[in-house]
Amino acid sequence: MTSHTVEINLGSRSYPILIGENLLEQAGLINTHTSSKVMVVTNETVAPLYLQKVLDALGNTPKSSVVLPDGEAFKNLETLDTIYDGLLREGFDRGCTIIALGGGVIGDMAGFAAASYQRGVRFIQIPTTLLAQVDSSVGGKTAVNHPLGKNMIGAFHQPVAVYADMSVLGTLPDREFKAGLAEIIKYGFIIDKTFFGWLEKNIGELLARNSSAIAQAVKRSCEIKADVVAADEFERGQRALLNFGHTFGHAIEAGMGYGNWLHGEAISAGMVMALDMSHRCGLIDQSVCRRGSDLLAAAGLPVLPPPQINKSTFLQYMLRDKKVIDGSLRLILLDSIGQAIVSDNFDPEMLHATLEHFDAQAADI
Ligand code: NAD
Ligand code: GLY
Repeated sequence: MTSHTVEINLGSRSYPILIGENLLEQAGLINTHTSSKVMVVTNETVAPLYLQKVLDALGNTPKSSVVLPDGEAFKNLETLDTIYDGLLREGFDRGCTIIALGGGVIGDMAGFAAASYQRGVRFIQIPTTLLAQVDSSVGGKTAVNHPLGKNMIGAFHQPVAVYADMSVLGTLPDREFKAGLAEIIKYGFIIDKTFFGWLEKNIGELLARNSSAIAQAVKRSCEIKADVVAADEFERGQRALLNFGHTFGHAIEAGMGYGNWLHGEAISAGMVMALDMSHRCGLIDQSVCRRGSDLLAAAGLPVLPPPQINKSTFLQYMLRDKKVIDGSLRLILLDSIGQAIVSDNFDPEMLHATLEHFDAQAADI
């Protein structure tokens, strides 16, 4: 497989996303982006698989590591504190670099530690899940959860480089792989109709882990995300499109207890709900809803929310979403496949109708 580099153009905060095989083994590559002292943040699942490779690739650079417990349930301030403890105990100063080695949970936490430690230090993303390679490692959103809401405490802090090593996906469990497909499919829905069609044709190849199909999907996803972020780094407008399905999905994740539904699974059901609402608002035909949920179902993803999350639970969490500004909820709806819109003037009755529709479906299960 040939390697690709996708540039993310943010002026002085620009950086490359390297996509290729065996990037972790390429000693010196990571070193080109690091400074004096490096802290690798990872978790207890990823550490035995890849930590030594990264430490080896760093050569003589002074380095240390923090191994966190695994899971969304640990993406909180208490776990974050253990990263600060490690940095302080070992005398890391402002010149250091933090490397996030793991999925989106590690990337978001290590990134927030980098954003806040001594008011900000450099960091590198080495995403090891499909979801992290196509989404969370790119764009500089970092955060931890609060019991009352997903990603409620965080900062924008761009990495200096992203290394998406396709080889590490070989150890990723199928359920996690499918969760990553949800964010890939999201890019087709919101921006790129041709890519959506390509995904419909190639979903079988992706599920069979065809490495060139995966690399193509990762590259196109990173290109789309890089363009969106370059145009609106701090989400003053169009970047919100990347949250298609997320307002519903975050309510599922928080309402079910973090970690019970994977992020990608919750986003999949959330996208189906957003499609339903787009239809009720007169934006898309029922056939588009069906086409969307068919692709998600073909990817082995949930197309209904869990029965435990009813209308009132959804509303409770949705009104705490970060897309609520001055008390009004903004939702991402679909105008057509390949074109999403940010809507803050939808008829609230349509939201209620969507939530009631899925309440009724859940009751049928
Ligand atoms: P995750 O980080 O929990 O990783 C999933 C599981 O896979 C974990 O058990 C992990 O230890 C394991 N794992 C990771 N790499 C592996 C590998 N190569 N082989 C075997 N096991 C491996 O979950 P995720 O789906 O990567 O990320 C979800 C998180 O990302 C959520 O917290 C979500 O909010 C966040 N997110 C952030 C952004 C952003 O822009 N910052 C975007 C999307 C999602
Ligand atoms: N995952 C949404 C964003 O990066 O903006």
